[in-house]
Amino acid sequence: MARKLYSWNGVSPSSMKTIFAEFPPEKQAMNHRAKNANDMIQEYHRQQLYPGDNFQNLMIDNVLPKIHTSLTWDTMSRHPASRSSTPESITLSLLHWTSDMFISQLIEIYWGKKISIINPELLRANLVWEKSTWKYIYRIPKTFANENYEARKQINDTLEEYFKLPREERKDANFFVEAMEKELRGSGLNDVEVARVSMLHLWAITGNNFKLAFWTIAYIIHDPELHAAVLAEIKPGVLEGVANMDYLKSECPLLEAILNEVLRVTMASALVRDVIVPTIIDGKILHRGDKLLIPYRQLHFNQDIWGANANEFDPSRFIRDKSLGTNASYRPFGGGPGICPGRHMARQAMYATVALLFTQFDVSLAGESEGIMGKQQFPRMNETKPPLGTIPPMEGEDVILLLRRTK
Ligand code: HEM
Repeated sequence: MARKLYSWNGVSPSSMKTIFAEFPPEKQAMNHRAKNANDMIQEYHRQQLYPGDNFQNLMIDNVLPKIHTSLTWDTMSRHPASRSSTPESITLSLLHWTSDMFISQLIEIYWGKKISIINPELLRANLVWEKSTWKYIYRIPKTFANENYEARKQINDTLEEYFKLPREERKDANFFVEAMEKELRGSGLNDVEVARVSMLHLWAITGNNFKLAFWTIAYIIHDPELHAAVLAEIKPGVLEGVANMDYLKSECPLLEAILNEVLRVTMASALVRDVIVPTIIDGKILHRGDKLLIPYRQLHFNQDIWGANANEFDPSRFIRDKSLGTNASYRPFGGGPGICPGRHMARQAMYATVALLFTQFDVSLAGESEGIMGKQQFPRMNETKPPLGTIPPMEGEDVILLLRRTK
């Protein structure tokens, strides 16, 4: 699948050959660096995101400080997602806020500040791209997918301009972006092609977190009992506006269960793998070149595993049965060698965001006095489009929050 995505985005056949070069086993035995550029890039991402120094630096110097700064009264009241604000209250579009916040933060954390200076509309282009990625996967012709083509072109062009800049002007890129660029240039790719590969990584990096945050907060705020219980649990995990990550990670089973359940019910990806050697599974022969597809949604709603209430949102199932989190039918982050390297970062970012939002603000659903007619309905998941990753809400459906200062 990665090969197709690269070549659809304009990586030339000769560069494809280098990036995905196959090394004979005897060469691999002699030289353990006999990995192709694609494998190396995956390896760099694991080095960036798996527990260790690079990951700690990323979390402590970047991800967590950015989340803390975003969740102050001043920043929230001035955020474009704030529909109105007074000294006592802020009315906020949850979808607008989570999309802007997570996509822009991740772009800056990876590529540095320069990229949004090159194109201040990069976030907008990403939001258009996000809404129409299925058109790219399904190869919908440009006539019916103009917005998708234009958004992808804008992201590609911005990255191209970025990679044309001398390195000294973009020193704040993270370890992964630097290592990926070096690897691709070493494989003979030019600025255009480095940008094209980078674009696909930008998509993987920014594509899910904002929707996960949206649904997590939506489920909590729409259920007063759940809201009260999780608030009581996380309160000791935030002291003077600072999230204590050790506490949130180890002492908050309900928070963990909520996130697990949100991941279960909102994930729509399928595992896609190419069969590279003849393999027998359950008496069935899979030949080299066959494709293997495991749709996660069906696994996540299988009543044999999840019980009669598999279709309901019930975080307590993960508390009652601790083994569900590691069940083979639970795959929110994929599996095997291609498993999502961002899963630790995504979880920690969610814990910090939920803990700070609900402890630093008195959060409720906006009502009549904020111009909302009737009771807000829980947003529906948009299953009308072929889903990729976390499902977005239906077009036009949102959660409007009312934030007040905590007493
Ligand atoms: C809600 C959060 C996220 C979810 C649900 C999610 C889910 C997934 C899934 C299902 C895959 C495919 C795995 C497979 O094929 O087995 C994947 C791959 C990937 N994810 Fe995530 N992801 C999330 C957040 C992130 C973040 C924050 C990053 C980076 C900062 C990231 C980077 C990647 C990358 C680079 C891949 C491709 C891995 C490879 O092919 O080697 N993801 N993700």
